[in-house]
Amino acid sequence: MYNLARELLFKLSPETSHELSIDLIGAGGRLGLNRVLTKTPASLPVQVMGLEFANPVGLAAGLDKNGDAIDGFAQLGFGFVEIGTVTPRPQPGNPKPRLFRLPEAEAIINRMGFNNLGVDHLLARVQAARYRGVLGINIGKNFDTPVERAVDDYLLCLDKVYAHASYVTVNVSSPNTPGLRSLQFGDSLRQLLDALRQRQEALTALHGKRVPLAIKIAPDMSDEETIEVARALVEAGMDAVIATNTTLSRDGVKGLEWGDEAGGLSGAPVRDKSTHIVQVLAGELAGRLPIIAVGGITEGRHAAEKIAAGASLVQIYSGFIYKGPALIRQAVDAIAGLPRAGV
Ligand SMILES: Cc1cc2nc3c(=O)[nH]c(=O)nc-3n(C[C@H](O)[C@H](O)[C@H](O)COP(=O)(O)O)c2cc1C
Repeated sequence: MYNLARELLFKLSPETSHELSIDLIGAGGRLGLNRVLTKTPASLPVQVMGLEFANPVGLAAGLDKNGDAIDGFAQLGFGFVEIGTVTPRPQPGNPKPRLFRLPEAEAIINRMGFNNLGVDHLLARVQAARYRGVLGINIGKNFDTPVERAVDDYLLCLDKVYAHASYVTVNVSSPNTPGLRSLQFGDSLRQLLDALRQRQEALTALHGKRVPLAIKIAPDMSDEETIEVARALVEAGMDAVIATNTTLSRDGVKGLEWGDEAGGLSGAPVRDKSTHIVQVLAGELAGRLPIIAVGGITEGRHAAEKIAAGASLVQIYSGFIYKGPALIRQAVDAIAGLPRAGV
C-alpha cells in the first residue's frame, strides 16, 4: 500500500509531499487508523538511558519538527519518537526549494535550516498528544542567535521542554545553521556540555525527575575528532550520543540530478560513514554511554548492522520516506535476529 502512496506523493514537490504526509499521518493518528493500516512490529522492549523503549527503532528528528503528528508516528510502530529540532522562537528556515529527492541513490539533500514554529507551539502539541511512550525532544538555536550565545538558546529550550520530554537531544550537527557544527569541538563543546549538565542537575531537583541528555553529532569527523568528542561526553556526564546527522560529502550522488545542491545529504550514501562513527565511538566509550545510530538505514539489515557496530538504538528518516512504515517492522525483526538483541 505504501508503494501506491509513494507513487502519488513522489509526483508532488518534496516539500509539498512532506507537509501532506505529516497531515495524513497526523490525521491517521487522531482517527486511530495508522495502527489498523500497518502491521505492528514484534515486541522487542529495551532499556536504554534508564528508559523503557517498546522497540529499538525510532523516528529521527526533523520529520516531525513541530510535534504535529506524534500519535500518528507512534501508531506506525516506532519504538520511540524524536521531534524537533525546535528553536526558542519560530523561524521560517531557508528559502525554497530546500529539499531534494535523489531516488536513484535512495538519498535526500536538505537545507531546511530549522524551519519550525518555536518551542511554545511544540509544547502545546506535546501536551495534546495521547502517546505515552518514549518521546525525545531535539533542541537547537535560532538562526540569528550568534554562535557565541548559542548556549542561551539551548538552555532556554531545555528549561521549557524538560518536564515534557523522555530525553532531550542537543543538536550541534546540522550543516544548515552557520557555525553550529563548531560547537562539536574543543572548548566550545566542553563549555556547552558543562552548562547543559549544570542546568540538568538544577531541573532534576526542580521537577523531581532526571531527563537524560543526548548529543547529536555529524558524520564528517576524523577518528581523532570522534574520539575527542567521546571523551568530552564521558567527562561531562552526558547520557547518550546520537550518530549521525547528515553529511556534507557528495560521495555516492555525484552526477545525479540535484546531487550538487547545497545542504546535508542523508539516506543510503551516508550509511557507511555513519556506521564508522558508531564503531569508533563504541571503541572509545566501551559501554560508558549508549549510542543511538542513525544514517542510511533503508533495509532491516542495516539497522542490525548499526546494533552490531555498538549502538543500543537506531533511528530512521530517509529510509522511511523511500520504504514507508514496513521498514520499521523489518528493522525490528532484523535486530531481534541478532545474537544479543537490543544490548
Ligand atoms: C529533510 C530533513 C530534515 C532534517 N532535520 C533535522 C533536524 O531538524 N534535526 C536533526 O537533528 N536532524 C535532522 N535531520 C537529520 C536526520 O534526523 C538524520 O540524522 C539523517 O537524515 C540521517 O538519517 P537517514 O539517513 O535515516 O535520513 C533531517 C534530515 C532530513 C532528510
